[in-house]
Amino acid sequence: MSDPILDRGALEECLRLVAGEAARYLAGIDAAPVRPPGEADGVGGPLSDDGVGSLEALRALIDAAEAAATRSAGPRFFHFVMGGGTPAALAADWLTSALDQIAFNWISSPFALRLEQVSVDWLKELFGLPAEWSGVLTTGATTANFTGLAAARRWWGLRHGVDVEEHGLSGLPPVPVLGGGYVHASAVKALAMLGIGRQQVQTFAADATGRLDADALGRALRGLGGAPAILAATAGEVNAGGFDPLAIMADLAEEHGAWLHVDGAFGLFAAVSPATRELVSGIERAHSVAVDGHKWLNVPYDCGAAFVHDPDVHRGAFAASAAYLGREESGRPVFSDLAPEMSRRARGLAVWATLRAYGRSGYRAMVERHLGLARRLADQVDAEPDLERLADVPLNVVCFRYRPSRVAEEELDELNRRLGQAVLDDGRVFFGTTVYGGKVAFRPAIVNWRTRPEDVDLVVATVLELGAALVPAGV
Ligand SMILES: Cc1ncc(COP(=O)(O)O)c(C=O)c1O
Repeated sequence: MSDPILDRGALEECLRLVAGEAARYLAGIDAAPVRPPGEADGVGGPLSDDGVGSLEALRALIDAAEAAATRSAGPRFFHFVMGGGTPAALAADWLTSALDQIAFNWISSPFALRLEQVSVDWLKELFGLPAEWSGVLTTGATTANFTGLAAARRWWGLRHGVDVEEHGLSGLPPVPVLGGGYVHASAVKALAMLGIGRQQVQTFAADATGRLDADALGRALRGLGGAPAILAATAGEVNAGGFDPLAIMADLAEEHGAWLHVDGAFGLFAAVSPATRELVSGIERAHSVAVDGHKWLNVPYDCGAAFVHDPDVHRGAFAASAAYLGREESGRPVFSDLAPEMSRRARGLAVWATLRAYGRSGYRAMVERHLGLARRLADQVDAEPDLERLADVPLNVVCFRYRPSRVAEEELDELNRRLGQAVLDDGRVFFGTTVYGGKVAFRPAIVNWRTRPEDVDLVVATVLELGAALVPAGV
């Protein structure tokens, strides 16, 4: 088999094969070890001159996945912050590939643009963001942070009388970026990509966990003497789910004429439940907001969204044109003018499908179930003398460490690192270590739609079992 045109007749069988195998894989995902030991060893070698044909290639891929794919879509993957794909989102994502739409403009695919428009509107409703803001679907929270901060950079340049998209940053002073200690690595990466620079981030933390020192932030803003600045806030810090005080930061932004960007990659979902809505109070006074789709929305990778309060500034940061691309003058959002990429996957299909399938109350039910599971885990940690919870649990992340009394404090970091590796190798549950307040700690995050109490209950059981094997009693 060489030229793909000879393969036209195989398409249906290819899709049927993959549908069957995917269903089988997912049927086993509740109980399978989270990370099998293999690394797809058989897929390498030189590029062959003649192809093996689609079915043989797909069978090899399926075998490799069976042996080596991390079961990150499953209910016991608590590492990083990773959702799975709801049935509606996953199937719509497959459809996205089959339809292969380019969500570029209303000429390339009115279908994809309309679905993105509705999805963005529904997300604004879900999160309580003002309807008049612009929004766009992105590849994740890194690009959503990039998008929001690009709008901030444009605004900042205009405040200096410079259109930075036209003329660049040269000749301008450094861009001041101020925040607490929760600023995520992806926001810093976005600042690097934007030419603002990682080193421009000024951190005002009240303690070693990164909690914002709002007084110090206020003093620093006063010190700028009215010069425009960007405030970087985080709603849902990755280690323990902490929140910057958004209302206070919005007040400071207002008082000092600053731009407030909020990274709500997963924490924005606090808005979905009345039990946690208060945590994001003030979000509607931000200037840009980032959220993830492949985290708590449970849309398959990759998906996120950025929202900007001023649609003109947003568009100004990303608009591009060429004669052959056509012009759109209807006033409708052209999403390639709001996003870093021009050719874009039609992510609106999966977002639309999952929101249509489960609605506001479905998402509220899922979020509240996860909040309850996080509290359940926190209670289990608190009940164990060999475990120490290191932080409150405002949302869905439980930060704790193994601390048997027979081990000296100065040995705990190394012990928890080794235990973290043992948890990953064991594979019954999956979560890694972080450093929180200077201590090596675990931080399981609960965001997967499949997760049930019995999955969460394995966390403490596994840590205690593997921990006891590392430091047997009496040692
Ligand atoms: C607070 C926060 N911001 C941004 C990101 C980056 O998201 P992504 O990996 O989807 O780009 C994460 C990922 O965990 C996060 O927790």
